[in-house]
Amino acid sequence: MRWLHWGLVASIALTWIAGEAWLRTHEIAGYVALGIVAVRLVWGFVGLVHARFGDFVRRPAVIWRYAVDVVRAREVRHLGHNPLGGWMVLALLASVAVTGFSGWLYTTDRFWGLAWVDLLHRASAWTMVALIVLHLGGVLFTSLRHRENLVASMFSGRKRR
Ligand code: HEM
Ligand code: HEM
Repeated sequence: MRWLHWGLVASIALTWIAGEAWLRTHEIAGYVALGIVAVRLVWGFVGLVHARFGDFVRRPAVIWRYAVDVVRAREVRHLGHNPLGGWMVLALLASVAVTGFSGWLYTTDRFWGLAWVDLLHRASAWTMVALIVLHLGGVLFTSLRHRENLVASMFSGRKRR
């Protein structure tokens, strides 16, 4: 399922590169991103242990404790997503879903040309960009902190025990 991640990255990059100038490409790439998110949602319930939402979606209290531990540099390392990363996964998936859905909405007869749909599409797209920046920051920070290359793990599927 790792290739899903890089497929998502590629399709989202393509939506940005294509933009309104190549709207057809933009729409197709957007639908691919939506499809990947849909598959990931299913995988979150039936997938391998660390891919399941039940494995990494924690209660706010757990996330708060983890955040405090991070600030004090004493957080424990996780083989799956850490509590903060877990919520980031959901936020990223949600932002892609809202962006893709509102983009599709804008192409329908009923919602075409409506200012709020246009605004929703652009706002969710930029929210996604902000989340991606935070995501990259989190990956970099955690990699440095635990002296491991998480990006390499995202290609190999392996993580040191
Ligand atoms: C379009 C931009 C991106 C999106 C939407 C995105 C989204 C996601 C999502 C949803 C996950 C959770 C994976 C899962 O559990 O199935 C994830 C994990 C991860 N991503 Fe990304 N990602 C993006 C870009 C990147 C880039 C450019 C890199 C590397 C430079 C990267 C590195 C990682 C790593 C290392 C993990 C695993 C984190 C962990 O160990 O918990 N991501 N990403
Ligand atoms: C999930 C990935 C997507 C991202 C990141 C994204 C992002 C954007 C952005 C930033 C714009 C403004 C373009 C500009 O200012 O040059 C835009 C416009 C547009 N997008 Fe998307 N989009 C996505 C998916 C889709 C999908 C799936 C569709 C439809 C099938 C779609 C249809 C449109 C249309 C019709 C416009 C032009 C009208 C408008 O300005 O709202 N997009 N998109």
